[in-house]
Amino acid sequence: MGTKITAEQIRAMKARREKIAALTAYDFPMTRLLDEAGIPLLLVGDSLGMVVLGYPDTTHVKLEEMEHHVRAAARAKPQALLAADMPYRTYESIEQAVATARRLQAAGAEAVKAEGGRAIVPQVRAIVAEGIPFIGHLGMLPQHVLEEGGYHVKGKKDPERESLLDDAQALAEAGAFAIVLELVTPPVAAELTQHVAIPTIGIGSGRDCDGQILVIHDLLGLWPWLDLKHVKPKLNAAEQMRAAVKEWKEGL
Ligand code: KIV
Repeated sequence: MGTKITAEQIRAMKARREKIAALTAYDFPMTRLLDEAGIPLLLVGDSLGMVVLGYPDTTHVKLEEMEHHVRAAARAKPQALLAADMPYRTYESIEQAVATARRLQAAGAEAVKAEGGRAIVPQVRAIVAEGIPFIGHLGMLPQHVLEEGGYHVKGKKDPERESLLDDAQALAEAGAFAIVLELVTPPVAAELTQHVAIPTIGIGSGRDCDGQILVIHDLLGLWPWLDLKHVKPKLNAAEQMRAAVKEWKEGL
């Protein structure tokens, strides 16, 4: 068995220009399989609200549901760093944010992620002061999908670009060890990657981030009901599952 990957090691990959591969994992077998494949950063993302629980978006995900999935993933005892999303409206004050991060840590998360920039800096500082590694999330913020009326690309206009740069800098100064950039225009994601000392991990934000993260269902073709621009599935697992089940049924 190899040694445990830490937040510091993920952070240090930026200086070595080593690309950071990250994927979501929501349960024991997926965590174990992705860990065996050598993925250094696994996220129990609140995307589980859609791809596992069938909600229309992540705003429905409860902390108890996140804890349940974090416990399952943590039972795989991955060598990868296991991070977890802080769900919608569970980090509105410093006290609430620290309590949420502690609960996720008690469930087995080794780092937490939350959405937002300067607006959540006091929460980030407090979580980091508790010794819990923190990952930022900028660009399209899925927990704001209802206010924003959809999943829109960020950074197209100059004020948005400047705001992203300021948010990223503020998160880095507050002690975040990495930042997910979701649906940020590739030139702005590249600029941001140059600008901040901590790794950027992109999703739909071009190739020039320090790493990439995907929802595992999108990579494996396990979520065939949505056509995403930013990912070309490496498998058609949904079709393979249907075919295997039909073959078994027909052979009865
Ligand atoms: O919830 C999630 O899966 C995420 C990734 C898309 C980064 O936040």
